[in-house]
Amino acid sequence: MKNRSSFSGKLGFVLSAAGSAVGLGNIWRFPYFTAKYGGGIFLLVYIILVAFFGYTMIVSETSIGRIAKKSPVGAFRDLGKTKSMKFGGWINAIIPILIVPYYSVIGGWVLKYLIEYIRGNAAVIASDGYFTDFITGGTQSEIYFLIFAAMTIFVIYCGVQSGIERVSKFMMPVLIVLAIIISVFSCTRPGAVEGIKYLFIPNVEHFSWITVVAAMEQMFYSLSIAMGILITFGSYMKRDIKIQNATIQVAVLDTVIAILAGLMIIPAVFAFSGGDPAMLQAGPSLMFIIIPKVFASMGFGTGVGILFFVLVLFAALTSAISLCESAVSTFEDELGFSRHKASALMAVIMAALGSLSALGYGPFASAKIFSMQFLDFFDFITNSVMMPISALFICVLIFRHIGVKRIAEEVEYDGGKFSQKKIYGFMVKVICPIFVIVILIASILSMMGKISF
Ligand code: PHE
Repeated sequence: MKNRSSFSGKLGFVLSAAGSAVGLGNIWRFPYFTAKYGGGIFLLVYIILVAFFGYTMIVSETSIGRIAKKSPVGAFRDLGKTKSMKFGGWINAIIPILIVPYYSVIGGWVLKYLIEYIRGNAAVIASDGYFTDFITGGTQSEIYFLIFAAMTIFVIYCGVQSGIERVSKFMMPVLIVLAIIISVFSCTRPGAVEGIKYLFIPNVEHFSWITVVAAMEQMFYSLSIAMGILITFGSYMKRDIKIQNATIQVAVLDTVIAILAGLMIIPAVFAFSGGDPAMLQAGPSLMFIIIPKVFASMGFGTGVGILFFVLVLFAALTSAISLCESAVSTFEDELGFSRHKASALMAVIMAALGSLSALGYGPFASAKIFSMQFLDFFDFITNSVMMPISALFICVLIFRHIGVKRIAEEVEYDGGKFSQKKIYGFMVKVICPIFVIVILIASILSMMGKISF
């Protein structure tokens, strides 16, 4: 058997897994979800969910990977042994293959904005209609997507230790420092205090069951759970690393960066809008339309813009790399491809599917699936439909096939601590499946227009 790739040590795992977790989801999606679903109360619910539900899933996936020493398809096949479990493995493996192309399209937009800021075009970017013209134009969007995708594939091509691990070890610390600098700047703007209060002070009146569902969905996306990534990374983790210790660091880092992103964006937008949270709910356009306007309105706008988009670019790159890593690992394990051949195959898939999304708002605007543009469709089908199903398979794989005891043994191997051991079984057998089913039902209802998020 070929020697399996591995991380050099704990730091390699933690920073690569955190690099996967920290992405556009934290910087752009988290602040706008927080604003849309209740401010402080959303944050509170989110943190509770991460500490119990999210953390259980992270430990589960990492352990599955380390026990099986395979990417998801092989792991489910070896440990699950039934046909339906095999299907679960494939769902886990296919999700990243579908996400990374459209994720890279957005990565391309970030790259484009960074370059424009560096060229001194801050005012142009902030002008009305700029973003729409850019994405509906097609060509530019396609070019930047291809550059971003090529950067991602290059890192994957370099291998685990000299690719993903090395890039994460450089980019993650830089990202944290930038996030702190920009948050301090944003929080010290006149009028920013209201935004800080909105983010941190829970107001029960803003609570509804939608708050919980939205927080759950955000958590899955942000922690990169149920997409085969942590199974793959677990399979690269040596046995002398303590699982609990390493995974807690990943969950904490991801949450801290999400909160920092909240501190970068919410107070600045509050200051800009004179205390009106409505602007924050602009959704996808928050980062590409509102934020440039906010930067343009303050001193040092160009400098802050450059730092901000470098940060977002790093976050997006490390996430895209992890998505590709999971896919490439599946091709290596299942098709027996060399790493280079597997990277080439991924490049072709990315170029094909990503182009649909990159051109989806422009030349292909009339082509729609379920009345959604390609990018929105891929986002919906992966995050709202496939991911909950995949999470369900992970829970079943553990309680029906691997056994809660075996997972605990893996976590406790060589004296490792497992603080949640007593509740772990209950979490994977009862709580996680219920939560996941709620997400799935809510997503389907929202697609049918029965509820609105
Ligand atoms: N977790 C990443 C984020 O927060 C996104 C991502 C999703 C990464 C799926 C990998 C897989 O943006």
